[in-house]
Amino acid sequence: MAVLSTGPVDPDHQKLGDEALFEVFASARGLADPNPFYRTLREQVPVHISGFGGTVFTRYDDCRAILRDNRFGNGAAGPTQSFGSGGSEVLAYRQEMMARRRERGRPQSMLGLDPPDHTRQRSLVSRAFTPRRIEGLRGRIGELVDDRLDALAQAGTGDAMELLAEPLPVSVISEMLGVPQTDWPEIRVLVSDLVEALEPSATVDGLKKAEAASGELWHYFTGLVAVRRAEPRDDLLSGLIEARDEQDMLSEGEILAVANLLFAAGAETTTNLIGNGLNALFNHPEQLNRLLANPDPDPELVATAVDEILRFDSPVQLDGRVCLEDAEACGVRFDRGDRVLTLLGAANRDPAHFPDPESFDIGRRGEPVMSFGSGIHYCLGANLAKVEGQEVFAGLIRRFAVIEPAGERPYRKRLVLRGLETCPVTVTPR
Ligand code: HEM
Repeated sequence: MAVLSTGPVDPDHQKLGDEALFEVFASARGLADPNPFYRTLREQVPVHISGFGGTVFTRYDDCRAILRDNRFGNGAAGPTQSFGSGGSEVLAYRQEMMARRRERGRPQSMLGLDPPDHTRQRSLVSRAFTPRRIEGLRGRIGELVDDRLDALAQAGTGDAMELLAEPLPVSVISEMLGVPQTDWPEIRVLVSDLVEALEPSATVDGLKKAEAASGELWHYFTGLVAVRRAEPRDDLLSGLIEARDEQDMLSEGEILAVANLLFAAGAETTTNLIGNGLNALFNHPEQLNRLLANPDPDPELVATAVDEILRFDSPVQLDGRVCLEDAEACGVRFDRGDRVLTLLGAANRDPAHFPDPESFDIGRRGEPVMSFGSGIHYCLGANLAKVEGQEVFAGLIRRFAVIEPAGERPYRKRLVLRGLETCPVTVTPR
């Protein structure tokens, strides 16, 4: 059980920290805007051994230090962290899911592994995600964005989540992996169900849907691997098959685990980057007008705008680790097995790293945002996500003279992946 290195926990601080966390995790106010509660934590209880079952960090330096410290990992935790989970029924179901997974011989993806397996698996996939490779995809990503913007232009008014933010990332990863276009709509539905398991607040029904979706994706990729093995192409799946067959560098199951992971990690996150970006721009019309003022978008301004969107309303709010050995870090003495949570959205508003952190300034330059995590699990798709975001906002600027909100923009009831349920917009072509 974690204890403060400096002495016993002050009961008033304990109460303040747990109340703020409760607001973030369980209240409508926290869902609409967690930032006032993040601020309370960051300023008054920056190291919080919470009553919810984990130690919570909110300052940028602490989050970075924990995520970079390999005494904290993911492997021992398994894929389903139980922090704040909805009671014993949900916990029991998560444990059953893990047991079934083991029985079926389904290995972990890199996200749930520690070195050396993590290093081996990640190094095989990372070749496809280098800045150069991703820059090479920019043109094609721009074409996929154009297809979505055609749909939006044709509708005139519609839900930008449905028409743009949700389909685009699935199309991009599908194309990288080599999933045929005819299968994209089906994959999209499965991916949306799949990510529910990431949420600490998931219900048993949500977990059942996620498990079913994971099974269907597994089945789907088993079939596609057989097709690509017979007829390799220049895609990521064929590359993974080659790494297995010719160099024996990963198992058959790991090919499928990686394919599943790329959808789970890369789809809804990037969807939320686009949706949260539109939301922030609608809430700060002067910043939207700054972008729309020039029909020929300035790539530098678009790039800083995407970074600022990631900072201001991070698509991933929470990252977790489990202590792999007894350890002292950031003012806490941890026992092996203790849970640690880093609130990335809070770190992104730490004034020690981002001057005037509550303001949204699309021209802001400065330190890297915490939205992609840090250390060995730093997001493999960070470059890809940024290029997708840049192509979306550049495309919107080029195509439309006016982009206006056309209704309420409620957030989904999710903690880890923060994003909009709907984003009704009206567009006027240039
Ligand atoms: C705005 C969009 C995205 C955000 C905010 C995001 C965020 C993150 C974060 C915070 C982690 C670290 C998890 C941890 O520390 O345990 C992560 C890991 C990962 N992300 Fe992303 N991600 C995004 C898009 C993508 C995309 C587009 C892909 C690929 C298609 C991707 C693939 C991955 C993978 C494979 C990992 C696991 C890396 C590892 O365990 O070594 N992500 N992402």
